[in-house]
Amino acid sequence: MISYHEISTADPEYALEKELRDRVLRRPLGLRLSEDDLRGEDEQVHLAAMDDRGRVIGCVLVAFSGNAAKVRQLAVEEASRARGVGVGLMKRAEQAILARNIRTVTLHGRVTARGFFEKLGYTAVSDVFTEVTIPHLKMQKNLTGG
Ligand SMILES: CC(C)(COP(=O)(O)OP(=O)(O)OC[C@H]1O[C@@H](n2cnc3c(N)ncnc32)[C@H](O)[C@@H]1OP(=O)(O)O)[C@@H](O)C(=O)NCCC(=O)NCCS
Repeated sequence: MISYHEISTADPEYALEKELRDRVLRRPLGLRLSEDDLRGEDEQVHLAAMDDRGRVIGCVLVAFSGNAAKVRQLAVEEASRARGVGVGLMKRAEQAILARNIRTVTLHGRVTARGFFEKLGYTAVSDVFTEVTIPHLKMQKNLTGG
């Protein structure tokens, strides 16, 4: 069974979250999770999907700045994909944003994940640009609270 948890950078699960992000989001690009990636994370919302052995199999972060919310670092390990974990994480991230009375959320999505985010109601609001060596799009969604 998969369960969802909000964790903090002080929790032991943070190390597992970082290991997952490194493995899913950085190493396949020949990169490593960097100091830049980790900056300010103690003030961000961290949501982790865990299996019944306590492994972190998926995660997403939300960074807040004034009245803006940005979803970042969405990752689901390969063996756990196509089971709704990505959507489960995104829905909880949106709830955390709405709970702060913020109605607009942005993200820099990989072009390869565009269809995933569009299914969730996100729209591309930029041209394609390069981030961490690969094509990305800025995407946005207005949350209704419904
Ligand atoms: C993108 C990612 C988070 C999706 O996670 P997931 O747990 O497999 O997603 P879900 O099972 O919740 O998928 C929900 C729906 O989106 C679809 N979907 C998943 N990945 C997709 C993709 N890359 N493009 C288009 N649709 C996609 C699924 O088929 C499913 O559709 P359905 O509801 O009609 O069956 C995961 O593939 C991943 O970690 N990829 C590598 C890292 C990455 O790209 N992160 C996001 C970059 S910003």
